[in-house]
Amino acid sequence: MRTKGSDQNDFQGEEGVGYVARFTNESEQRQGLKLGEIQPTVIDGKLIHVAYLGSPEALVPDDVRRFGANLVKKAGRFKSSAVLDLEALSLSFVKNQNLVSALLEGVYLGSYSFDTYRTRSRGSKSGLKSIVLTVSEDDVETYQTSAKSAKILAEGVALARDLINEPPSTMTPRRFTEIAQEIATTYGLELRVWDEKKIEEENLGGLLGVAKGSNEPPRMLRLHYLPSDLDPAAKKTALVGKGITFDSGGLSLKSGTGMMTMKTDMSGAAAVLASMVVLAALGCRREIYGYMALTENMPSGTAQKPGDVLKTRLGKTIEVLNTDAEGRLVLADALALAVEDGAEQILDIATLTGACVVALGTEIGGIMGNDDSLVSQVREASLDAGEELWPLPLPEKYKKHIESEIADMKNIGQAGQAGTLSAGLLLQEFVGDVPWIHLDIAGPARSESDEGYLSKGGTGFGVRTVCTWLL
Ligand code: BES
Ligand code: MG
Ligand code: ZN
Repeated sequence: MRTKGSDQNDFQGEEGVGYVARFTNESEQRQGLKLGEIQPTVIDGKLIHVAYLGSPEALVPDDVRRFGANLVKKAGRFKSSAVLDLEALSLSFVKNQNLVSALLEGVYLGSYSFDTYRTRSRGSKSGLKSIVLTVSEDDVETYQTSAKSAKILAEGVALARDLINEPPSTMTPRRFTEIAQEIATTYGLELRVWDEKKIEEENLGGLLGVAKGSNEPPRMLRLHYLPSDLDPAAKKTALVGKGITFDSGGLSLKSGTGMMTMKTDMSGAAAVLASMVVLAALGCRREIYGYMALTENMPSGTAQKPGDVLKTRLGKTIEVLNTDAEGRLVLADALALAVEDGAEQILDIATLTGACVVALGTEIGGIMGNDDSLVSQVREASLDAGEELWPLPLPEKYKKHIESEIADMKNIGQAGQAGTLSAGLLLQEFVGDVPWIHLDIAGPARSESDEGYLSKGGTGFGVRTVCTWLL
C-alpha cells in the first residue's frame, strides 16, 4: 500500500516487468481489446504490461477477480518479479473497497495449485512479488483491512480446495475429522464428533444407512462458533455440508467415468469447514453451527439395498430406491440436528444432483429454499462473491414425486423429471418451519480448467458466498 504523493515511478520491479491497470479507451475497445486482457507495451523504454479493464461504469468485482488471477499468472509466464501500480486507474476504482478485495482475492486464488502428489515441480506459478496500491492517506487503513480479509477469505477457499483435491482414500471421514479437530483448537471453536457408535445410538439413520457398505467408519461433526462480541440481533445460523468422501453410487453403482470425480462429493462439507475458519478469523459477530455429515458411499455385502427403509434422526422414514441418491439421506440427519439445536436459519450446501449440472451447467449453482427473502439475500451475496446461483422452485405439487409405497417418502423422484427439485423437496421435510436455503453445487464445485481464478479440480465454491452473506 502506498499513499498518494510518494514516488509514483517505481512500479517497475527491480529485475522485472511493470504492470499498469487502466480502463480501456474507446479506440482500444474498437481494436477489440478485451476486459482483463494484459498486453506488453514499451513506455519510456521500459517494458510495461498494460491490463485493460473495460469501461469504469461496467466494471464489476468478478472482472477484477479474474484480472487479479490473470495478472498473477502472467507474471509467472514472464518469469518476472513485478510491482503492480493501480495509480493509473481513476480513483473510482480504489475508492470501492469491494474491488480492492476482489483484486486481491483474484491474485491469491489465481496462484493456487495442489502439488502434494507431484514429485517433479512445475516451477513456481508466479513471479509476482508485490502489489502496490496507490491510495490517499485517509483510505490506507480501510484498504489494509480489506486486503487482510481478502487474504483470509482466499486462504479459506484454498483450504476447501485442498480438502477436496486430496485423494479419497486419504481424505476419509476420520482424516477430515482430524483436520476439523486441529482447526477447532486453532480457532477456539467447540467441536462435537459423532463416531459410528454415537451415530447409531443417536439414531442418525440416514448417515448410518449410507455408511453401511463401507469399511471406513462415518462421522458427524458439529463445529460451534460463539463470538465474544455477539450481535444480539443476529440470528443463530447453521451451515450444513454434504461430506461424501467418495461416492461410488453404492449398490446402484456409478459407471467408471461417473465416479472419476466423486472424491469431490464432500465439497459441501469442505465449504462449511473452510467458512467456519474464515468467519472465526474475521470475527463474525453471529453464533454459527457447522454440521458436516461424512461417509463414503460404497457397495459391498453389508451395503444398504435398493428397497431398504431408513429411519432418520427426525423419525421420518425414507425408502431407498437408489443408493446413489445418498446425499439427501445424510443431509436429512444433519438438518434435523440443526433444527434441534435451535438454529434460526439454516443453509445447506451439497453436490447433490447431476440434474442440476444439466440444468445450470458447471458455472452456476442452484438455490432453493422455504423463505424467499433469505433466498434473495444469499443470492445477492453470491453475485458479489462471484459465485453465481440461480433460484429454482420447490413446488408443492411435485411432492407426489417423492411419495413412497411403503415409507414416508422415497429418495428419488420421477425418472427424468426435475431431479434437483425432488432432492430439495426431500430436504425440506427435515427443516420444519426454520428459514432454510439449499445450495446444489454439483456443477460449480469442480472446474475442468485452470481458467481465471479457478484451478482444475475442487473450486471451493460456496465459501465466498457463505462468508459474504454472514459477514
Ligand atoms: N454426488 C452425486 C451428484 C453429482 C453428480 C455431483 C455429478 C457432481 C457431479 C449424487 O450423489 C448422485 O449420485 N445423485 C444422483 C441422484 C439420482 C440417483 C436420483 C444423480 O444425480 O444421478
Ligand atoms: Mg450419489
Ligand atoms: Zn453424491
